[in-house]
Amino acid sequence: MELIIVATLFVIVITLIYIYLKRAYSPSPGDLPGVKPHIFFGNLINSGIWTGESAFHQVLLDYQHHFGDKFQYWLGSHRCLVFCRIEHAQTIFADRYTFDNSPLNNSNFDLFCPNSLLLLTGAKWKRHMRILLPMLKLAKIIGHLETIVQCADRFIDQNLHSGQIHRDLLSCCESLTMNVIGFVAFGCDFDIHANSQIKKAVHDFESYVRWLSPLPWIFRWLGKIYLKYNWKYQRASRLFHGLAQKLVEEEQNKQSEMENEPPKNLIAALVSSLNEEANDEQVSSGLTSAEIFDEILTMILFGYEGMPPALLWFIFFASKNPQVQQKMKEELREHHLLMTNNLKCVPPLTANNLSSLTYCECVIKEVLRLAPVIEYTIRIATCDTIVDDVKIHRGQNVFIPLHNINTDARYWHHADPQQFVPERFLAEDKNHHPLAMIPFGGGHRACVGEKLAWLQLKTIIVRMMQRGLN
Ligand code: HEM
Repeated sequence: MELIIVATLFVIVITLIYIYLKRAYSPSPGDLPGVKPHIFFGNLINSGIWTGESAFHQVLLDYQHHFGDKFQYWLGSHRCLVFCRIEHAQTIFADRYTFDNSPLNNSNFDLFCPNSLLLLTGAKWKRHMRILLPMLKLAKIIGHLETIVQCADRFIDQNLHSGQIHRDLLSCCESLTMNVIGFVAFGCDFDIHANSQIKKAVHDFESYVRWLSPLPWIFRWLGKIYLKYNWKYQRASRLFHGLAQKLVEEEQNKQSEMENEPPKNLIAALVSSLNEEANDEQVSSGLTSAEIFDEILTMILFGYEGMPPALLWFIFFASKNPQVQQKMKEELREHHLLMTNNLKCVPPLTANNLSSLTYCECVIKEVLRLAPVIEYTIRIATCDTIVDDVKIHRGQNVFIPLHNINTDARYWHHADPQQFVPERFLAEDKNHHPLAMIPFGGGHRACVGEKLAWLQLKTIIVRMMQRGLN
């Protein structure tokens, strides 16, 4: 008898769960168009993301092509509303009180750095920004130009010999940009190369984040338990914490010797903000040591993530468009920045001559516009609202497909926006809408590293051209 009752209860529970899931994943009248999702996996399987058949930016372009400027995409078990027009982006980015950073943007990052700027919102985010932002402004980082040039020279000497065929350029670019972050943010030579321990640890971290990200939440929890007992992951975690500890201690020693000097780099600003009592009631109360550690890791991971693909895309586009390389060199020649027979060394790069290289700047803009370095950003609605007649409920996720907007033919007039044409920024598209090109996102959660990324890209690319790479 008892067995029958237990079996009946089991069947009822399973049926109720099934009905609940069926309803949760079924379209309701008035929903935006989209592809019918699978339970738990949403559109990840039918769009080919799960199997690796399709790239995310291509899926978002295809969906826009089929369903128009507003559609829905199920990111696993999360229904996201996707808005593809500039006007949508403008509304969402401008309303910082209704749309904040979504946890989906960096899911699983909480596992590594729970106090990272990437994950924070509200007063805690403001407290962190107060320390980080001033150190990432152009006026501060321009002082590191010479160091970036030296890193670029080391990279070129070690990796880009003429006649050599490169199979590991991404890895070389990762080493370069992590070394730059080491010098600029921490005043430290990480001396990253293919076999360095820090790089291997970042790589392990990264691959676990990627591996866990698309999993439905139930498997993700299992994944998190798995990581707790995974020696490779735990080894990487220990290495990072040891490194962060060392950086903080070295800076503390420096600061005890020179009192009251304004911070020169990020680590100096972080260490001088140290306050174990820091709290969100006082935005200027500084950061705790756990928060400082997590921000150090965030910066190291960002050195590894955003920049290398952008550099690689430049190398790709430049190799496909020799006429662009030629024009860049002509511009360098006009500004006396190319090597001549009379000169024994490469002419130095300064902030002034770098800013006068207009065509080179157009090339970098075009790389960032056309290359899907970061394809989308997600915001979460903090209250019920309406965007372009679409009702959005509190807690719902809103997608802005950055690459779709960057390449939308309605906003670019000089040439086909799917083509690599840097000249567009000198012609009709010179005064394009500011949101027609948003590789760094927008609004209050736009990329804080944008100025650093620009300076790095421009310096490294110009240096490659000066040193005659083709
Ligand atoms: C070409 C290189 C880079 C690209 C394309 C890029 C792009 C982006 C994008 C699209 C976002 C999300 C913005 C949004 O949600 O509206 C972002 C956020 C962020 N980026 Fe970058 N980024 C790059 C380099 C860097 C670098 C070098 C750093 C390190 C200093 C950095 C630090 C950050 C941080 C901390 C955030 C989170 C900001 C927040 O949530 O408040 N990025 N980036």
